[in-house]
Amino acid sequence: KSPFKNAAVLSDSYSSEASELADIEWGNLGFGLLPTDYMYMMKCSQGGNFSKGELQRFGNIELNPSAGVLNYGQGLFEGLKAYRKEDGNILLFRPEENALRMRQGAERMCMPAPTVDQFVEAVKETVLANKRWVPPPGKGSLYIRPLLMGSGAVLGLAPAPEYTFLIYVSPVGNYFKEGVAPINLIVEHELHRATPGGTGGVKTIGNYAAVLKAQSAAKAKGYSDVLYLDCVHKKYLEEVSSCNIFVVKGNVISTPAIKGTILPGITRKSIIDVARSQGFQVEERFVPVDELLDADEVFCTGTAVVVSPVGSITYKGKRVSYGVDGFGAVAQQLYSVLTRLQMGLIDDKMNWTVEL
Ligand code: COI
Repeated sequence: KSPFKNAAVLSDSYSSEASELADIEWGNLGFGLLPTDYMYMMKCSQGGNFSKGELQRFGNIELNPSAGVLNYGQGLFEGLKAYRKEDGNILLFRPEENALRMRQGAERMCMPAPTVDQFVEAVKETVLANKRWVPPPGKGSLYIRPLLMGSGAVLGLAPAPEYTFLIYVSPVGNYFKEGVAPINLIVEHELHRATPGGTGGVKTIGNYAAVLKAQSAAKAKGYSDVLYLDCVHKKYLEEVSSCNIFVVKGNVISTPAIKGTILPGITRKSIIDVARSQGFQVEERFVPVDELLDADEVFCTGTAVVVSPVGSITYKGKRVSYGVDGFGAVAQQLYSVLTRLQMGLIDDKMNWTVEL
């Protein structure tokens, strides 16, 4: 059955392409864009509703130079993954959570957003149309990138008159160049990612542009990424440029509470539930940077990074190492449960996966 609602002309090429795996070196995936076959597009005017999206060949899009997203940053993105099971079927992980987060972000950014059903259906259609790009089991995943942007023209500062919802996909492997080896972070105490009352708690595109300067400086010094502190006290952990952070001490796992400046990660939320189900005590609270000094383990979570162990953190010139070559025991346990769930290797008692 063709996954296309509105593009019958594409369905012939779809069925021949999608039946087999793309002819690429599946063992070498990193986290870079590999162009795939189709993308999904749906438009809506300000004050209207999204309807009638369709798949198109993946490629460049046209925007008015005065588009709201280009001039005033009126844009959001999401990230989720699809895994191929041993039986060939594809699993999505909690796609409705991404849909809800996009709706919350859209409210903050004065944009209309697709309904949860529209979002999830669009993700399914896009993944099925690009099925040959979902890596074989154990070789990675298909990263799904939904975008919502003010595509209509504005000159004076105002919400754009038209919006575009777009989904593209790319097969990916590990996010950090370290692979699954621990990453080395540096705490940034001058530049900040978010402010109270700002947009740090939604996935707006500008949050990510704002971290590039500190991230580039850190990378130039050999660090993997930057850990941000709160901008008021310059003392409490917030998050890493592209992921949330967890600190382990004994049986207690602590992570910064969601309070408007931290991105409410879906992997973060899932790891909290998995950790509790495994008997750990999880605390969502203010976590002072000093707690890094005597932590047993530190790890990051995110859709792109999954669960990444942290090998060292440098703060004001002082480096703390977590003394493990690979994963610490806690991060390893949580990573293993989460990824086996996502790949359909264990029973999904949480009802988190959606099979295509
Ligand atoms: C994700 O983990 O999906 C993200 O959106 C982070 C991004 C910077 C790669």
